[in-house]
Amino acid sequence: MTRVLSAVAWPYANGPRHLGHVAGFGVPSDVFSRYMRMAGHDVLMVSGTDEHGTPILVAADKEGVPARELADRNNRLIVQDLVDLGISYDLFTRTTTANHYRVVQQMFTAVHRNGYMVEKTTHGAVSPRTGRTLPDRYIEGTCPICEYPEARGDQCDNCGNQLDPTDLIEPRSRVDGEVPEFVETQHFFLDLPALAEALGEWLDQREASGLWRPNVIRFSKNILEDIRPRAMSRDIDWGIPIPLEGWREQPTKRLYVWFDAVIGYLSASVEWARRIGDPDRWRQWWNDPQALSYYFMGKDNITFHSQIWPAEMIAHNGQGDRGGEPGPYGELQLPTEVVSSEFLTMEGRQFSSSRGVVIYVREVLQRYQVDALRYFLSAAAPENADSDFSWPAFVERTNNELVAGWGNLVNRTASMVAKNFGEIPVAGPLEPVDEELLSAVRQGFQTVGPLIGAHRQKAALTEAMRLVGEANGYVSRTQPFKLKGEDQRERLGTVLHVLAQAVTDLNTMLSPFLPHSSNQVHRALGGDGQFMPMPRIEEVTDLDEPERPGYPVITGEYSSMPRWEPRPLTVGAPVAKPTPIFTKLDPGIADDERRRLGLPVDDE
Ligand code: MF3
Ligand code: ZN
Repeated sequence: MTRVLSAVAWPYANGPRHLGHVAGFGVPSDVFSRYMRMAGHDVLMVSGTDEHGTPILVAADKEGVPARELADRNNRLIVQDLVDLGISYDLFTRTTTANHYRVVQQMFTAVHRNGYMVEKTTHGAVSPRTGRTLPDRYIEGTCPICEYPEARGDQCDNCGNQLDPTDLIEPRSRVDGEVPEFVETQHFFLDLPALAEALGEWLDQREASGLWRPNVIRFSKNILEDIRPRAMSRDIDWGIPIPLEGWREQPTKRLYVWFDAVIGYLSASVEWARRIGDPDRWRQWWNDPQALSYYFMGKDNITFHSQIWPAEMIAHNGQGDRGGEPGPYGELQLPTEVVSSEFLTMEGRQFSSSRGVVIYVREVLQRYQVDALRYFLSAAAPENADSDFSWPAFVERTNNELVAGWGNLVNRTASMVAKNFGEIPVAGPLEPVDEELLSAVRQGFQTVGPLIGAHRQKAALTEAMRLVGEANGYVSRTQPFKLKGEDQRERLGTVLHVLAQAVTDLNTMLSPFLPHSSNQVHRALGGDGQFMPMPRIEEVTDLDEPERPGYPVITGEYSSMPRWEPRPLTVGAPVAKPTPIFTKLDPGIADDERRRLGLPVDDE
């Protein structure tokens, strides 16, 4: 048993989440975490909504509501979407808890005490019209590196490089297009150059592990070449105050997302431990060098996770060029792997909520089956290259693979068992054709599992579906529907037993991908109780400020996770006539959906 931290990117609470988001961090982190639990590991899966900073302010300003109100509302929407998707967090919380504020401020104090947080005078943007400071994200312009015309003042979403607003070519305000003025302002900078050597050693050692995706390790090593001190505070009034005298009192100096949301992985682990009444338990995932940690995100977040967050941990631990002592969180362990996805595009274009090029998770879940969506996002995942979500492709994969392949196998197996026996029949002597199928499926546990463990989920799903194909082929070869005579009854029982065994084991293998329907398949073949545990929403009060309004968290009891191994059937377990588990889609919906998006439809 190994302790495994599944650290899942914190979605911004500036609006509901779209398919691009959950394809990057959501479904892959859940498939992995479920599998690792099934394989017997002790998984701690944490995340939450990222509620501070400019993205939230921009959205709140646009609506004319306070930032907190907007964050509260979006936090609830996002929690609902993620729980409906079945993402099995141990704790999904938020960055506005008193617990998170404390952990962030203690990290700051430790990093500052060790000498890695340095004060500097820099240039901040101000609106000449209002005299108000303009946060980096309020400014856009042309990226000096890749010439993308809509780069933001903190980062270019096209090439992923970190930027300062003064780097932008032709900077302008996102609010009204005004050209900003730059004035002097004081900020705290994380002294990344003093942490670069330790970061480099860690990256070299990670590269040698051969685990990381090539794009991710290459990008991470590249950005190390041009490492500079980075501002960890901002001129903004919505965020965590800087815990130093003379700073704490200033209403418009706040910690930046780079020293806020990323620390959430640690603060959420602490909150989880406190909520289960074992307040030091988080240390088993954070201080033990044997524990493994995997960080899941889209590629626009690599810098956060392969440079900023590890640098902060090194600084807290006192392991950079300036030395120092470990802070209150002990010797924090650096990521085992930064598992970053490429982008999912939508009908060939980049998702963009602001430009209306978007499909929200909620819309899909209202109209289609959740496991059909999970299946698509896994089968067409942007694992190593960008991939596309298109409605015709969604219909095709759902109908041809999920319904015609897996759904049909489950349905015909349960129907034949119900009709002929009404219960799982006993198996007579096995023929070579039976042994072949059983051993191929048993083999699957050895191939599919390690592929998921190595973050090759597409290949894992392909392999599991290949075995589904073998089981369907077994039906054609053995033709149980023709075994009608009394003298063939024992053979019929054997074939259906073998088939039911294969379906049961394939269900286990597919269950990390298709957790909701795995419960239905389990029951269709005589199983009882819940097979795959699901997450739930719990209303909680703030641990440190109970007088605040409560908030919803996602949590769950996952210790009853099925084992990653074959499960012998219970002979005699009742099997009733099944209702189809997966719904076949009318091909016309692809056109309906494209019309909804304002996209051209073929014959119009
Ligand atoms: N909320 C940010 C984003 O969506 C950062 C997410 S990951 C974090 O890009 F850990 F840094 F929060
Ligand atoms: Zn760029």
